[in-house]
Amino acid sequence: MKRVLITGATSGIGKQTAILLCAKGYEVIIHGHNKSKIELCINEIKNKIPQAHLGSIYCEFDEYKSITSIVQKELSGQQIDVLVNNASHINKQRREIDGIEATFVENVISPFIFTCAVLPYLKPTGKIIFVTSNCHSNYLNLDLMNSMDHDYFQIYENTKTCEIALSIYFSENTPFTCFSVHPGIYNSNLHNSYWGDCGIDSSECNCLFNMIESEEVESGKYYDQCRISIAANQVYDKKFRKDLLLLLKEKTSIDSQALLQSFSKAK
Ligand SMILES: NC(=O)c1ccc[n+]([C@@H]2O[C@H](COP(=O)([O-])OP(=O)(O)OC[C@H]3O[C@@H](n4cnc5c(N)ncnc54)[C@H](OP(=O)(O)O)[C@@H]3O)[C@@H](O)[C@H]2O)c1
Repeated sequence: MKRVLITGATSGIGKQTAILLCAKGYEVIIHGHNKSKIELCINEIKNKIPQAHLGSIYCEFDEYKSITSIVQKELSGQQIDVLVNNASHINKQRREIDGIEATFVENVISPFIFTCAVLPYLKPTGKIIFVTSNCHSNYLNLDLMNSMDHDYFQIYENTKTCEIALSIYFSENTPFTCFSVHPGIYNSNLHNSYWGDCGIDSSECNCLFNMIESEEVESGKYYDQCRISIAANQVYDKKFRKDLLLLLKEKTSIDSQALLQSFSKAK
C-alpha cells in the first residue's frame, strides 16, 4: 500500500486529496496544526470511507525549530511514497516569528525544514510535490520579508515563487521526482481570506490526486493543474536559488547541501 503524507490536510484541497487517495486504497498521513481539526478530518474521512488507512502528524509550522524532531519521532520506521507540501497561510497583519515575517516562516522555511526531515523516509521512487499558485510573483524580492510596509498578498505571492524554486532545488539535488503544482482555483479558507466566499468547492479538486497517480510527471517542472507550464523567470535563475538557499541556511542552520550530499551517499 502506498503511503502519502499531506501537509495542511485538515481542510480544502489537502483534505479533498486525502479523501480521493483513501478511496483509491492509499494510506494517508494527515498533517495539521490543530489537534481537534486533525481528529475531525480523520473522522470525516472514515465516515465516508470506512476502510480508509489513516495516520496523523501534528506539527505547528510557526514553531519551525521543533519540526525536525517531530518528523523524526512520528515517521520513525515508516516509509513514505509521496510528500505533498500543501500547507499554506496568508497573514493579513504583519507578524514576526524570531524576527522573521510569519508568512515566509509558514510557507517557505517550515516546508523546507519539513522536506529535509522527511527525505530519509522517502522510498527511492518517492515524489515530493510543492503546492504553489499561478499567482506566484514574477517580481520576487526577498527583502520584502523585512519590509514594515506589509503588502500581505505580495508576500504570499513571493512565498509561492520560493516554493517553485525549492521544488527545482530538490529535483536537482535528490534522486526523487520533485515538482510544483498550481492546483486550480477553489473555494477554501485560504482562498476566501483574500477573495471572499466564491469559486468552485474544493471537493471538486482532483488535480493533486491525478499528479500523485501519474507515472508521467517530470521532475523539476512547474505544472499549472496537470499541464507542464512556465513559472516566473527567477525560479530558473541559479543565482536566485543559491541566494534563497543561503537565506534558508542562515535562518534554519540547515546546511542542505551537506545534508543532501550525505543523504545521496547513504542511498
Ligand atoms: N484554493 C485555491 O484557490 C488555491 C489556488 C492556488 C494555490 N492554492 C494552494 O493550495 C494549498 C492548499 O490551500 P487551500 O486553498 O486548500 O487552503 P486551506 O483549506 O486553508 O488549507 C491550508 C492548510 O494549511 C494549514 N496551515 C495553515 N497554517 C499552518 C501552520 N502555521 N502550521 C501548519 N499548518 C498550517 C491549514 O490548517 P488550519 O485550517 O488548521 O489553519 C490547512 O490545513 C496552499 O498551498 C495554497 O497556496 C490554493
